[in-house]
Amino acid sequence: MKSSVKSIAVLTGGGDCPGLNAVIRAVTKTAISKYNLEVWGVEDGYLGLIENRMRRLSYNDASNILTVGGTILGSCNVANPFDYADPSQDDGPNTDVSDDCIKALKSRGVDALICIGGDGTMASAADFAKKGLTVMGVPKTIDNDIWGTDITFGFNTAVDTATKAIDKLHTTASSHHRVMIVEVMGRYAGWIALYSGAASGSDIILIPEIPYKLENICDSVLARSSRGRRFSIIVVAEGAKPDGGDMVIAKTLEDSPDPIRLGGIANVLSEQLSKATGLECRAVNLGHVQRGGTPTPFDRSLATCFGHLAVELLMQGTKNHLIVQREGRFKSAPLSEIAGKIKTIPTDHTLINAAKAVGTSFGI
Ligand code: F6P
Repeated sequence: MKSSVKSIAVLTGGGDCPGLNAVIRAVTKTAISKYNLEVWGVEDGYLGLIENRMRRLSYNDASNILTVGGTILGSCNVANPFDYADPSQDDGPNTDVSDDCIKALKSRGVDALICIGGDGTMASAADFAKKGLTVMGVPKTIDNDIWGTDITFGFNTAVDTATKAIDKLHTTASSHHRVMIVEVMGRYAGWIALYSGAASGSDIILIPEIPYKLENICDSVLARSSRGRRFSIIVVAEGAKPDGGDMVIAKTLEDSPDPIRLGGIANVLSEQLSKATGLECRAVNLGHVQRGGTPTPFDRSLATCFGHLAVELLMQGTKNHLIVQREGRFKSAPLSEIAGKIKTIPTDHTLINAAKAVGTSFGI
């Protein structure tokens, strides 16, 4: 089916990540040079849509941004058009302002909205689709936890950043005979911890999918000590939790589609481990460093393919889908199938088995 789309808007929603600009570039350049479309950039994700803030993007606006981290459009991870807490209405009830968002797009003649974001952004995109707006999703997140795609852009860069940081911590851990506990992001999935932990040869990897037992972690570091390996590196996902226990919550942001912000497990473990083993422990939280900086070549290419395909499929008449990569092939899947689910690591994942085979403990 041929599309009647003449004008598109693009937004970047949720937490930022490396590669967003590469998608904006691919979308804008493909749309303008191949299809002569009008392109609007929505500022600050859904917040800009709610506040009716968008600007025309020219071909030149999309030049020279491929390697730049962050997003030229800005992002926001607390504004939900279907459940919006208007800051000017102190303590007023949340409201559904999605009709106003659609009006803002229509008033500019926008026929379709490309939403670059994670699961929260896709949930709202799916809700807009139900209201008749044509949308197309592009899967972004360092967490790699979007259901339906094998990979999201931003993940490779975050793993690269985390691995390089852990490599540096290795040398100082070794000099001081310490246990270094490195906390990485990832929300309820351990992808960043697994891949950076395995790539850095970390001794212990703790992920939400495999609840740990503290005594097993203690046994592993003490066993290394008794073999003359007087330091250990533990990579812990922010969502890791003890068997029968809970994740550590850093704060709750009521207005956010996912209000819980995890964080602090490395400090907790550091205290517990030093008490239980007598070894000197230090906690390092890599935090938002993992979301910053220039995208890796892999992410630049992935983001370019995703952005390009989003426009191509839209122009072929596909709508309300998420662009995905499955088993090395690019395709799309209905947003309605994806919204509300997250992709965690299967506990029989090849990299878990390989890491175990080379002596890595998962705290069980
Ligand atoms: O989803 C990306 C992510 O960086 C998570 O890994 C992390 O839990 C969360 O966002 C942090 O959110 P914020 O930027 O609101 O602190």
